[in-house]
Amino acid sequence: MLKKLKVKLTSFSHGAGCGCKISPQLLEEIIGKNNSKKLFKELIVGNSTKDDAAVYDLKNGTALISTTDFFTPIVDDPFLFGQIASANAISDVYAMGGKPIFALAILGWPISKLPVEVAAKVIEGAKNICEKINIPLAGGHTIDTIEPIFGLAVNGICDLKNIKKNSTANIGDQIYLTKKIGVGILSTAEKKGIISEKDKLLAHRSMLKLNSFGETLGNLDFITSMTDVTGFGLAGHLIEICEGSKKSAIIYENKIPLICDLNKYIKQNSIPGGSNRNWQSYGNKISPISQMCQTIISDPQTNGGLLFTIKKEKETEFLKFVKSSNSIKQLITLCKIGEIIELQEKSIIVK
Ligand code: CO
Ligand code: CO
Repeated sequence: MLKKLKVKLTSFSHGAGCGCKISPQLLEEIIGKNNSKKLFKELIVGNSTKDDAAVYDLKNGTALISTTDFFTPIVDDPFLFGQIASANAISDVYAMGGKPIFALAILGWPISKLPVEVAAKVIEGAKNICEKINIPLAGGHTIDTIEPIFGLAVNGICDLKNIKKNSTANIGDQIYLTKKIGVGILSTAEKKGIISEKDKLLAHRSMLKLNSFGETLGNLDFITSMTDVTGFGLAGHLIEICEGSKKSAIIYENKIPLICDLNKYIKQNSIPGGSNRNWQSYGNKISPISQMCQTIISDPQTNGGLLFTIKKEKETEFLKFVKSSNSIKQLITLCKIGEIIELQEKSIIVK
């Protein structure tokens, strides 16, 4: 039997989960300039838009979806870290409306500082999530690194016509979110050791929850665009929808669902480093807002909810469909947060 391992995994990571994502602005500098001019016509979604995954037309009515996500520990428990990192990576297939088919593991491990048994637990967590959705963890790659890193490369498939992009929202579409916001603030509070047991569980449960509802949304033609909320925060990912679609969005501050009372943690300065980096890179694209609202909409989420737009005239039908299914109700907390409007000077207007 494995002896009780007393390692605090998060003490090895400089940034938590999707909070260690490079800011949108820097990413632009790294990738934007290297955008190849060569066109591959089978590549339906690639670097030209900031979507969740690459999509390749297999020429038989089916598309291949391919994505990778990995980061440093966001929780101390290695099994849970493996689960969360995996659910987060798989989410990008769901965010395209697709069905995951298999995954590969990406593991960086400080071999001289952390026992390999702990790494084995991380992989076990990944296998657990893959088993839940009945896909194989089919291989991977491992290297010796300074910080522990884990994630997956995930492949999925989708009927070509069901692919959901983040650049196709229309004026009048209603904006929905499927998870509450705040896991970045809570993860920082956990790292600082100031989180309550109850809120810690809330954060873990939220980050563990699979975004498999995205596969269902793929089948609905009135869902006009979709992404998931991760490291750039609610505002960052909504800006990607707005800019990709050449539109703006109105969101209502009091409609943004919060995971718990975040005020007490914000007051103790439990704000992820990623929030400020996010704000610096896109704050100028948002109408003036309170400090509190800024902290919330730029909070990096790890495996955050699906963010999607829906044709207004189909909204009632959609809500009826969601209400009628108990399995869907268990999967998501559905919240309408605003609507798409014509292009304004600002991408997001907060009311
Ligand atoms: Co994503
Ligand atoms: Co991603």
